[in-house]
Amino acid sequence: MSARVLPAHEPAAIEEAAAVLRRGGLVAFPTETVYGLGADAFDPRAVARVFEVKARPSFDPLIVHLADAADLSRVSPALDPRVSALAAQFWPGPLTLVLPRRPEVPDLVTSGLDTVGVRVPAHPAARALIQAAGTPVAAPSANPFGYVSPTTAAHVAELLGPAVDLVLDGGPCRVGVESTILSLAGQTPVILRPGGVPREALEEALGVALEVAGRPARPLAPGQLEKHYATRTPLRILPGPAGRAPEGRVGLLAWRTAGPEGYAAAEVLAPDGSPETAAANLFAALRRLDTAGLDLILAEPCDEAGLGHAIMDRLRRAEAPPTAGPARRARRR
Ligand code: TXA
Ligand code: MG
Repeated sequence: MSARVLPAHEPAAIEEAAAVLRRGGLVAFPTETVYGLGADAFDPRAVARVFEVKARPSFDPLIVHLADAADLSRVSPALDPRVSALAAQFWPGPLTLVLPRRPEVPDLVTSGLDTVGVRVPAHPAARALIQAAGTPVAAPSANPFGYVSPTTAAHVAELLGPAVDLVLDGGPCRVGVESTILSLAGQTPVILRPGGVPREALEEALGVALEVAGRPARPLAPGQLEKHYATRTPLRILPGPAGRAPEGRVGLLAWRTAGPEGYAAAEVLAPDGSPETAAANLFAALRRLDTAGLDLILAEPCDEAGLGHAIMDRLRRAEAPPTAGPARRARRR
């Protein structure tokens, strides 16, 4: 059996999806970053199903999605003046803010933390859905835990199948990498995960240089887990442009041109050389290589400026050796 997929631009589909959310069901929906697997954030039973379907460990909190920044007070007291400034500039858009939570937000959503991750997605179908549901929507990326995030409705349907009540198809995701997560929970703002809003833009808005959190022993974001966003095929990042193909069935994730011949499969991320194009293509290209029966994927590196930061972050986490932990269990599914 496969998932039910409806076109996201049809008002009747949005209404039906909103009704599914209101009665505690799960809806996969497009955002500008990646597809999300949504549940009513105030319904702990629905949220529990999200964890189950993704095989996601419960120490890993979910991002709460709002239709509008004006709804922020439903999940966070947010007295911080930096919040309104950032919201005005970057919402709707690929920025998640980690803020003090309201006690009404279920513990399962925040993994018992005293903070909540919040964002207003830019995709019109996402906002229409949340608006119509009349409730904030908790949504992780719509993939099994640890695997590459889906950027099309077809990926979602393949990865999660009938475990999802409804999939809204809004076409391929425009940004292609997940939101940047910025924590405003402590004195100093910290980037917990590089993503769709470049660090440089946040630094300019806040007027401070930003730290990017390292890999703590107990991760606050699985974005912080060393092995994450991973293909099942081993992946190695090359030191520079690709050379001749090594022995075996080796695939190439190339930056601007297809590179030398001899690779069993090749994907070009950015024929125009722009990191925005590369980010939009990244996860779909990784999935195609991952399903091509390869022994190894070699990836060309890119400049770590703007979205290049998020791209290299995802590639490094895909490259990291498996750790004994939930990510590894999910990879065996
Ligand atoms: O672009 C995105 O952010 C996508 C779309 C669907 O919105 N969502 C997404 O969700 O990437 P997920 O669950 O795959 O990653 C969310 C990250 C996790 O690493 C989680 O640990 C972190 O957000 N997070 C959520 N709430 C947090 C909190 N209170 N403190 C620290 N990290 C938090
Ligand atoms: Mg994810």
